[in-house]
Amino acid sequence: MADPLILELQGLRAGYGEIQVLWGIDMAVRRGEITALIGSNGAGKTTLMRTLSGLIPMQDGHYFSEGRDLTGDTAAQILAHGIVHVPEGRRLFGAMSIEDNLLMGAYSRKASRAEIARDMERVYTTFPKLMERRNQAAATLSGGEQQMCAIGRGLMSAPRLLMIDELSLGLSPLLVEQLVAALRTLNAEGVSILLVEQDVTTALDLCHSAYIMDMGRIVRTGLGPELLADPIIRDAYLGVLED
Ligand SMILES: Nc1ncnc2c1ncn2[C@@H]1O[C@H](COP(=O)(O)OP(=O)(O)OP(=O)(O)O)[C@@H](O)[C@H]1O
Ligand SMILES: [Mg+2]
Repeated sequence: MADPLILELQGLRAGYGEIQVLWGIDMAVRRGEITALIGSNGAGKTTLMRTLSGLIPMQDGHYFSEGRDLTGDTAAQILAHGIVHVPEGRRLFGAMSIEDNLLMGAYSRKASRAEIARDMERVYTTFPKLMERRNQAAATLSGGEQQMCAIGRGLMSAPRLLMIDELSLGLSPLLVEQLVAALRTLNAEGVSILLVEQDVTTALDLCHSAYIMDMGRIVRTGLGPELLADPIIRDAYLGVLED
């Protein structure tokens, strides 16, 4: 039997009230991989992540994950299944400490104290900065530390699939490098990742495969290196002039 897909979308449509944004998304994302979602501003990447986490309703189509039908499920059901969204802008609780923000990620889990302590340990091993500052209010963190905290909170939800919207927004190249290294480690430990990243070179270099979105549709899919070498993709998304 084929390995069940971590995301299997068929003709997924969604939008905001009367405004349709996603016009029939088909995707087949393998477990264990890093998958990048690429597209220009307004293509519908965030809307797709919001739909997959149940924040906005599906209008049509089918949504499966590892053989389970999530079509029409609530955000709480989807989270319990392990599809976890690290939103654009990070959305931390500013007045709360790092550690309390991380614990919020485990809030709805039926996990033992020991499991939660083990997962907290993994977050602190992945991001030692968070360990040093665990009692500091989240609002006082730098942008990069806030992103680490948001990803850490996602990890505390025991993700099968971690969806990260705008990994590097506003961060220095050095921090982006650190986050990329952390994602590689987490992926090697078995976390599947769906990533939206404006820096297309970084995204295609990091991912196993990528989906290119335009105007609410998937227009291309392929392996990262294959798309990185494609002159049409380079021209459209990398601003590289071929000679
Ligand atoms: N709350 C909303 N109400 C109505 N329309 C919205 C809403 N949020 C987004 N849209 C529209 O949906 C379309 C897709 O937006 P979305 O945020 O999903 O794009 P994106 O690919 O994430 O873009 P970006 O790269 O700028 O983050 C846009 O045309 C946007 O104006
Ligand atoms: Mg977006």
